[in-house]
Amino acid sequence: MIRRSILLGTGSALPVRTVSNAELAQTVDTSDEWIVERTGIRNRHIAGEGETTASLAADAARNALDAAGLAAQDIDLIILATATPDQTFPAAATKVQAALGIDDCVAFDVAAVCSGFLYAVTVADSMIRSGAANRALVIGSETFSRILDWEDRATCVLFGDGAGAIVLGAQDSADGARGILAAKLHADGRHNQLLYVDGGPSTTQTVGKLRMKGQEVFRHAVSNLASVLREVLDLADLTPADIDWLVPHQANARILDATARKLKLDPDRVVVTVDQHANTSAASVPLALDLAVRDGRIKAGDLVVLEAMGGGFTWGACVLRV
Ligand code: UT7
Repeated sequence: MIRRSILLGTGSALPVRTVSNAELAQTVDTSDEWIVERTGIRNRHIAGEGETTASLAADAARNALDAAGLAAQDIDLIILATATPDQTFPAAATKVQAALGIDDCVAFDVAAVCSGFLYAVTVADSMIRSGAANRALVIGSETFSRILDWEDRATCVLFGDGAGAIVLGAQDSADGARGILAAKLHADGRHNQLLYVDGGPSTTQTVGKLRMKGQEVFRHAVSNLASVLREVLDLADLTPADIDWLVPHQANARILDATARKLKLDPDRVVVTVDQHANTSAASVPLALDLAVRDGRIKAGDLVVLEAMGGGFTWGACVLRV
């Protein structure tokens, strides 16, 4: 028998307020035309008072549990990927646990910025396959609006807030045909000055603001993503032609196009939400996955590939038979 992590349900949550490019252009020296042409972004959701990383995560988790037809008490593991926790500690995952009313489970946060969800899924999958967990909530949730420098037009137009969640469950089968078939993660800390936050508890005792050398990040993203996608498909003994849906991290429409071109993938097979959500860091992949599951594009039996790249640098990909 082969034990695998099966996708049981997906969910998401977005702040109520949406902010268009035109609205941003009233306070920052930018334009709808520049933002759409260079990034594909048209709108983003921005968290209001009372909407936090943990509260959005708990809402997304409830939706995912509903979709899976499970009760909160069925969960024995919560991994929450975020770079914008409500507080330095406790882990936002434990706040989600409390909000859901789960008496006892394993709960912790993962910090790998935009690749955080891929890191969290990979750890959850390892724990499920080893028998350390049976049913996991894996969440990506961010409120990047709170670490943006709203006077820096090169970064403040790029990000949005939101949360996405999935429920993974252990399943033993003879062929192991469904579930997470392969995952691959990377990090290269030599590049951590290209995308970082200029504060933190151990240095400035402030939260800090996001700083990015966009062009250099862009170059690395395109080459790292294409190579990790080939790597993870090789691990699963598959080729790009086998992919039904690519659910990529949503940083820039031009990165999505370039990645699809490199893999000779039909652009219609790529789930795109960057226009509506902008870059929501660790939330972007589960948000896009939930959208494509709910609108009926992703169906049982489809081969779905997830990928992301972000600060660190960190990057990774995962192959999943739904
Ligand atoms: O999620 C983690 C991974 N993150 C990413 O993958 C982000 C990767 N990088 C990018 O997506 C792109 O590099 C950006 C969207 C950040 C920038 O696009 P770009 O085509 O690389 O533009 P650029 O930085 O080379 O800037 C071109 C021009 C500059 O003006 P000059 O020097 O040519 O006069 C900028 O000052 O555009 C200017 N500019 C803007 N103009 C209007 C920069 N930001 C803006 C803006 N509105 N918001």
